[in-house]
Amino acid sequence: AKRELILAFESSCDETSVAVIEDGAKILSNIIASQINSQKRFGGVVPEVASRHHVEQVTLCAEEAMTEAGVTYADLSAVAVTYGPGLVGALLIGVAAAKTVAFAHHLPLIPVNHMAGHIYAARFVKPLVYPLLALLVSGGHTEIVYLKAAGEFEIIGDTRDDAAGEAFDKVGRVLNLTYPAGKKIDDLSKQGQDTFNFPRAMLHEPNYDFSFSGLKSAFINTVHNAEQRGETLSKVDLAASFQASVIDVIVQKTMRAAKAYPVQQLVVAGGVAANSGLRAAFQQAVAAETPDMDVIFPPLRLCSDNGAMIGAAAHVLWAKGAHADGRLNADPGLSF
Ligand code: KG4
Ligand code: ZN
Repeated sequence: AKRELILAFESSCDETSVAVIEDGAKILSNIIASQINSQKRFGGVVPEVASRHHVEQVTLCAEEAMTEAGVTYADLSAVAVTYGPGLVGALLIGVAAAKTVAFAHHLPLIPVNHMAGHIYAARFVKPLVYPLLALLVSGGHTEIVYLKAAGEFEIIGDTRDDAAGEAFDKVGRVLNLTYPAGKKIDDLSKQGQDTFNFPRAMLHEPNYDFSFSGLKSAFINTVHNAEQRGETLSKVDLAASFQASVIDVIVQKTMRAAKAYPVQQLVVAGGVAANSGLRAAFQQAVAAETPDMDVIFPPLRLCSDNGAMIGAAAHVLWAKGAHADGRLNADPGLSF
């Protein structure tokens, strides 16, 4: 049979990325133009800066993705694009680019939810088996999602305030780390210990929800109180204590869900899934509590935003009937 080739666009936040994916599982190319260097100066993502960057990069990324994959537009089966959630101006650039290619080359257009993309990054590790449970931990989301079948998403737990990645980034600012701070806190943690014992919010509540704003406040107060006393606290212990608190609640609550739902696989995805402590804690918890369950982490470079994961999700969603036309619009608040 003819191979299915999807050209996939991602531009929801601060990476412009275009990929060519074969049969939903093989990466022929995955070009990622990061704008971290231009956003670093502002300590976060400035929507207007992000949009301008996407405009400059999207065509270049698409051309490079096609060249690297060694395919022509006539070889393509469909075009896929992230249409939400994300920054509206940023999303619009990818949506406009994808529509243009689809229209010019008479190709189907597949709309993809960015969060579905993060989950389907796990498809590059191995075939997924349903029902499955996914933990989505990124800069904007912290959700436990139950997939009864391919492409059927049910959010069973969510954050009540900050996302996990957002907490990493905010605490990082207090430690004078540049944005995004997740990886830097992860690295510092390896040299420190959990000596501060920060709160583990909602750990014992009978639900699958999270809260990280109290932890963030406790962290900030601890640092400021010490400053007022003229003390300097150990940066590595602060990092390790913060990270331990985040990992504790995430792993324990997710494991509770994994035992309550009839699942054989647990996918841990999103930017924060790159965290080495989180990966180790999940591996340990699964080995001890649910040894028959498979925990799947996407490869590190596919945890943060990229076009490949959008192509993998598009393969699944297309089979389920997802189809858009020239009227497709960005949906910044899109949920499952
Ligand atoms: O999924 P992603 O690339 O973008 C969103 O869709 O939000 O996630 C970015 C987030 C940032 O908050 C970043 O600090 C965090 O992922 N992150 C990490 C690590 N690497 C990236 N957080 C903890 N540990 C890491 N190793
Ligand atoms: Zn993301």
